[in-house]
Amino acid sequence: MVPQQYLVRDVSKETADTFTLKLEPELGANGNSFRPGQFSMLWVFGVGELPISISGDPAQHDQLVYTVRSVGQATNALVTQAVGNGIGVRGPFGTGWPLEAAEGHDVIVVAGGIGLAPLRPVIYEVLQNRERYGRLVILYGARSPHDLLYRKELAAWARQRDTQVLITVDYGGMNWRGHVGVVTTLFKYARLKPSNSTAMVCGPEIMMRFVTLELESHGLDRSNVYLSMERNMKCGVGFCGHCQYGPYFICKDGPVFSYEQMRPMLEKYEI
Ligand SMILES: Cc1cc2nc3c(=O)[nH]c(=O)nc-3n(C[C@H](O)[C@H](O)[C@H](O)COP(=O)(O)OP(=O)(O)OC[C@H]3O[C@@H](n4cnc5c(N)ncnc54)[C@H](O)[C@@H]3O)c2cc1C
Ligand code: FES
Repeated sequence: MVPQQYLVRDVSKETADTFTLKLEPELGANGNSFRPGQFSMLWVFGVGELPISISGDPAQHDQLVYTVRSVGQATNALVTQAVGNGIGVRGPFGTGWPLEAAEGHDVIVVAGGIGLAPLRPVIYEVLQNRERYGRLVILYGARSPHDLLYRKELAAWARQRDTQVLITVDYGGMNWRGHVGVVTTLFKYARLKPSNSTAMVCGPEIMMRFVTLELESHGLDRSNVYLSMERNMKCGVGFCGHCQYGPYFICKDGPVFSYEQMRPMLEKYEI
């Protein structure tokens, strides 16, 4: 429960409202190992504490990387930190994406907006351990071309062997030559092998509802589909009940759940 002091080493702009921060422990390297999909509780001193997914490379142990969209007081305070400032870090917390279960399978990553951040460590892991996985299919949707995260990396991933990257935006504008439409419209271009695939999905809840239906209609077994859920959090470790979602605490039992676990709740619009 006690935060460790980390120092901001770099802040880079991804889009107008989204920034990637690199943090290093003030007292030198301490392992920093995490499972792709886990999150930290980041405490901006004097402002507040909030859950943010780790978006960096799990093989890099000397720093923790976070991609943050400024939507309110605490996230705005995070993205406006200066290099050298201190941040309190608790965690990593929560469940990770099922990378062991996905070994030998094609991996389908479906992300909407900032949802690509918790999935980026999965992409690093698959690309660094190519022999363990089949094809990597990345379907990514953003509001506009200006809202696309990790643009250079998306282009680099698309050049990797056995990797397909499909991108769409809700509004293209004059200079956009790519796909326009919601992320589910990309499925008709995706080369999928449903009988031997694991899908990992993160984005707004409404997007995840439709993506899971699409994956099912393509023949993916529900037990091979995983989602990352979001709720307001306080403790991050299952004590306070703030993040309760049906029978689960998102912080402790999630944030990554199987579609089978989430399906009864996703069908109830009022939860
Ligand atoms: C497990 C987990 C991982 C997350 N990972 C990331 C991440 O990698 N990057 C990132 O930018 N954000 C992430 N978030 C969301 C982030 O924690 C919230 O955006 C943040 O707490 C908002 O705090 P604030 O004080 O800036 O905004 P507030 O002033 O609290 O809220 C501003 C607006 O955002 C809405 N809001 C607040 N919290 C949430 C939430 N959890 N989900 C949806 N809407 C919310 C409010 O209703 C309000 O409209 C994650 C959340 C969870 C639970
Ligand atoms: S945030 Fe306290 S129980 Fe989940």
